[in-house]
Amino acid sequence: MSTRLFVLVVSLLVGVLAVTLTAGYLVWTRGDQGTAALIGGPFELVDQDGRTTTPETLKGKWSLIYFGYTYCPDVCPTTLSVMTQALDQLGPLAEKVTPVFVTVDPERDTVAQLKAYQDHFHPSFVMLTGSPDRVRDAARAYRVYHRKVESESATDYLMDHSSITFLMGPDGVYVTHFGHDATAESMAATLRQKLGG
Ligand code: NI
Repeated sequence: MSTRLFVLVVSLLVGVLAVTLTAGYLVWTRGDQGTAALIGGPFELVDQDGRTTTPETLKGKWSLIYFGYTYCPDVCPTTLSVMTQALDQLGPLAEKVTPVFVTVDPERDTVAQLKAYQDHFHPSFVMLTGSPDRVRDAARAYRVYHRKVESESATDYLMDHSSITFLMGPDGVYVTHFGHDATAESMAATLRQKLGG
């Protein structure tokens, strides 16, 4: 390859790389707005008292939505405790927020199982389950990854799942989210800011 051709090819590659990086950066920085359109959508599940619950049911209040499963040994109970403590720290403002737990393990998380689990966390928690199809559709609407980890036992298995808490506005539209490392303090601070209290 001649030197001139080599320089031309390198210049082209640098150009393509620059365009790709710029596009990637724009997508990344605009992520919050872009995500808003992607997170959330219709679902129809039942709560711990057997009542049908849809996004319409949740409208009028802010929702803190987390997907997990009651047999989870660590991340789920920790996250639900963080949500509980964050709401406790909000005081009266907490009345504007509905904490929602959606199971990704409907086989074991029956209405009765959720009812018992709800006792451990904030009393305003709405805990949702449904048929495997309905649960899969709900998880898909929130872009939540979940997968059963194969085990020798049919009842004693783990679920692999993403661990993100979504804040949806009173209109049901995505506002922001919290990672699995969010503390009660940071969650309460963000909620206070978003709720305008
Ligand atoms: Ni979990």
